[in-house]
Amino acid sequence: MAPKKQTFYVTTPVYYATAKPHLGSLYSTLMADVLVRWQKLHGKDVFFLTGTDEHGQKIAEAAQQAGKSPKKFLDDLIPSFKKAWQVYGINYNHLIRTTDDYHISAAQEFIKTLIKKGDIYKAAYKGWYCTPCETFVTEKEDKKQQYTEDQGPPCPSCNRQTVIISEDTYFFRLSKYQDALLKFYTDNPNFIVPRERLNEVISFVSLGLKDLSISRTTVTWGIPFPDDPSHTVYVWVEALCNYITAIGYAQSDKQKQFHYWWPADLHVVGKDIVRFHAVYWPAMLMAAGLQIPKQLLVHGWIRVDKQKMSKSLGNIVDPMVLHEKYGAEQIRYYLLRQIPINQDGNFSIYDVEQRIEADLANDLGNLLNRMVLLAQKYDVHEIQPPTIWSEQGLNLRDACLDMIEDFNGHMTDYMFHLALARLWRFIKCVNVYFHEQEPWQLAKNNKEAFMEVLSGTCHSLQVIGVFLWPIMPQKMEQLLESLGVTFEYENNIIENLELGTWHKRFMLKKIPALFEKPERTVKMEEKTEQVPEKKMQYVDIKDLAKIQLRVGTIETCEVIEDSEKLLKLFVDFGDHGKRQILSGIKPWYQPIDLISKQCIFVFNLKPRKIFGLQSEGMIFIAEDERGKPQIITVPTVIPNGTQLK
Ligand code: MSP
Repeated sequence: MAPKKQTFYVTTPVYYATAKPHLGSLYSTLMADVLVRWQKLHGKDVFFLTGTDEHGQKIAEAAQQAGKSPKKFLDDLIPSFKKAWQVYGINYNHLIRTTDDYHISAAQEFIKTLIKKGDIYKAAYKGWYCTPCETFVTEKEDKKQQYTEDQGPPCPSCNRQTVIISEDTYFFRLSKYQDALLKFYTDNPNFIVPRERLNEVISFVSLGLKDLSISRTTVTWGIPFPDDPSHTVYVWVEALCNYITAIGYAQSDKQKQFHYWWPADLHVVGKDIVRFHAVYWPAMLMAAGLQIPKQLLVHGWIRVDKQKMSKSLGNIVDPMVLHEKYGAEQIRYYLLRQIPINQDGNFSIYDVEQRIEADLANDLGNLLNRMVLLAQKYDVHEIQPPTIWSEQGLNLRDACLDMIEDFNGHMTDYMFHLALARLWRFIKCVNVYFHEQEPWQLAKNNKEAFMEVLSGTCHSLQVIGVFLWPIMPQKMEQLLESLGVTFEYENNIIENLELGTWHKRFMLKKIPALFEKPERTVKMEEKTEQVPEKKMQYVDIKDLAKIQLRVGTIETCEVIEDSEKLLKLFVDFGDHGKRQILSGIKPWYQPIDLISKQCIFVFNLKPRKIFGLQSEGMIFIAEDERGKPQIITVPTVIPNGTQLK
């Protein structure tokens, strides 16, 4: 019997079906698609789930605004998701709609299991609620602020006004799972990528978990609560269940399939929904006696004009417009190359155009084109490998193998932007090789060397084509076709490609240019003009050396009760000791947001007393577009006390 293939089950969030998908929705989906294709190239059996989140107040309101029933509104809207995914080559296996019957009954079964376990009880609940985010705001009410029943504190996620909701509700005993969750995080340090997100989750859970309200009486567009239809299931709870219901949970005819895929290998999620996936979901799965997904991949936000792009803020970039103007695969490349997964990134048309022109059309497209045209000029179609490679050829092959190793490493870490940057370094290297060998001269006086240059370039391009296939599948299939390589991933599993032995024969074929240069909407000069240089007050390097900036970890953080502004931080600077530092960021930060964060501090600021308390340093911040101070964290773990240079 053939050995069972390794499986890979990846999911995207289910997208709120309030409007057609935007660039942010595409971003999560694209990552999952690229990873699925990457795993296919490694011979795995994959299942790729995406879907739409179709219950809750937001959906009911959107439908009402459109003058339609929720069902009609959703049925009219969902094709726009399917269309976008099709245009962008998103190769999902299943698109779940949370209004699908099988999901509704399986989600109810899930709740019933928790009820049987004794992990659900009914009690009264009163709290601030953010309707657009469908979430209770647990932050403490600021005593100095005068909030009213329908004008609560702003939601920490979308900054909109919250309102008081008071109702009888069913609670899930989340608090019971606090220790088990903390143990799970310790035992599974790779549960969340990037790692710094796990620290945030651990600090949150360590501060104590409250039981979670999981039903609503005020929301009627939802799944009826089992045995109490006056309540609907809290939309987040049933939405999370999609990851199991879609593959057959609680469906008697699908048990084999369910156990084949579960637990998921990866949930791709944006940074705004980490808590739901890293705390609530694992706790509920523990309660239901199911395994916890192996990993969460958390990405940042795409911002437009430095603002979060979202339906609620109304600054949407439409992926369909982009695809028409620039091509879907060009946008796939841009998104993954331009925006580091662990950070927020700004979307800019200038960058889109620049990437297409410089990286795709010039570096890659031209390389293929020049090589094929030159071969054709000398009537060469079939390219046999040389019997013995020259030093230059061997160097190119080594450079290719180095690239493969680095690329694999970056992909394993989900650092797409680094993988692509590394691959482009190799493309540039192939361009240099091609140019320096002057094959147009060799064609006239050294046919053997000419053929070797063509062969070296073809071998390099084949590797480039296969490794870039997950990112730009159709374009790379065309590229490979032009080398005479038929792409079927079953035959191109990376392990079988014998990438180190350059002994392949290629059959060249001219194809239309892979990438057209876009017509520039934003010219380089205009971009420079947009940021006029202010009159600069320069400082001497000696002045800069006077300021000591060091990395420190905030160990504890307390609110100074009588102060409107101050928080008291206790910061660990490693060999440089621990210090108390006061900071005026109380209006924007809760202690929980700061504890365990590694930040940058001015270390040699003259100590002074503020509010009767000693402060020995200053935390660095930068204001965001809303004027909220953002602390400056470090990109990776750095020893405490390290001085910035
Ligand atoms: N319905 C919930 C998810 C439930 S999953 C069980 C939801 N939906 S959403 O449509 O608001 O967001 C879905 C995903 O899109 C999230 O991962 C979110 O981070 C991502 N994005 C939404 N806007 C985004 C950007 N502007 N940039 C990048 N991704 C963002 O939350």
